[in-house]
Amino acid sequence: MSRAAVVCGLGGALPATAVTNEELAAQLDTSDQWIRTRTGIGLRYVVAPGESTSDLAVAAGERALESARRKGGAEAADVDLVVLATSTPDRPCPGTAPGVAHRLGLGTVPAFDVAAVCTGFVYALATAASMITAGVAERALVIGADTFSTILDPVDRTTRAIFGDGAGAVVLRAGESGEPGALLGFDLGSDGGGADLITVRAGGSRQRSTGEPPAPGDEFFAMEGRPVFTQAVINMSESSQRLLDRVGWTPGDLDKVVAHQANVRILHAVGEQLGLEDKQLVVNLDRVGNTVAASIPLALSDAAAGGDLVPGHRVVLTGFGGGLTWGSAALVWPDVEPVTQS
Ligand code: ACO
Repeated sequence: MSRAAVVCGLGGALPATAVTNEELAAQLDTSDQWIRTRTGIGLRYVVAPGESTSDLAVAAGERALESARRKGGAEAADVDLVVLATSTPDRPCPGTAPGVAHRLGLGTVPAFDVAAVCTGFVYALATAASMITAGVAERALVIGADTFSTILDPVDRTTRAIFGDGAGAVVLRAGESGEPGALLGFDLGSDGGGADLITVRAGGSRQRSTGEPPAPGDEFFAMEGRPVFTQAVINMSESSQRLLDRVGWTPGDLDKVVAHQANVRILHAVGEQLGLEDKQLVVNLDRVGNTVAASIPLALSDAAAGGDLVPGHRVVLTGFGGGLTWGSAALVWPDVEPVTQS
């Protein structure tokens, strides 16, 4: 047995406004039938004017801390590190995490953002887990939160059909590698050669602010769907398999694979590559769409709340996103009670 980071709390938050496929079809040249058959998505949620990523991050963080308290008592929520995965920060500068920690009443704990788009949650989990195993932290709050509705081109039927806003969070504590909930290993990777496939062109140091409006569309999120689809399947499958080999499990040993919820056809293709049965795949994108860094923790919350994910299950989390980036994590599911409502 060795020191490990152990999952001990889980929470999620969605904004109040739901947008149905029919509502999108009333505004754009699309249909419920196209969106359902090409993506599997039926509904997504969007923030209200003035509502930001940190608002959702605080709500999910509060709930994950409440979840940790329910099984571990008051001290379980006494975190000494906050890592926030987001690529829609409240502002380009400073990071969003310190403000989230402040609003959660966590005092002067270290808090920083991790930007790895849809892989952000797995990267943030690996970062916090490594800080715990290194003895730099004892308990960490890891949040994935994004509000892609704030950066989508209002006339882009493809991205508006796919993306939704949300936040999900877990609490990690220091424990032992043999305990349920212990993070058993990670596989992380990137390929910057694909950086232009998923991008917001303007607003950074490359295409900087000049005081004039950016070229039309450059301030909005842009994605090349086809190559992203292919890369998502290849990299989530290969990353999961590398991790399984490292942990000593086979795909057949897994009870659940919680993959980034981008498109149900991607989930089934990953399942096919790994030789999984449909019952091993967690799917909740039909109800929330692609919530970017929130996707994996929201899928975990849904599966645990619905009884699909139970203590003792062998689980692999796997994500893919802009960068390009990908990453996977393995654990045996612990006895946690997710909190998704205040
Ligand atoms: N309604 C109707 N038609 C549409 C819509 C829509 N909402 N969106 C696209 N179309 C049209 C296209 O314009 C195209 O029309 P054309 O043939 O006349 O040119 C046609 O449908 C087919 O377009 P494709 O892009 O080939 O459609 P595809 O089946 O590939 O689905 C999709 C597009 C859903 C974007 C898919 O490629 C996909 O899921 N890609 C991966 C997205 C992803 O995984 N993202 C995760 C990472 S994102 C991140 O990190 C932030």
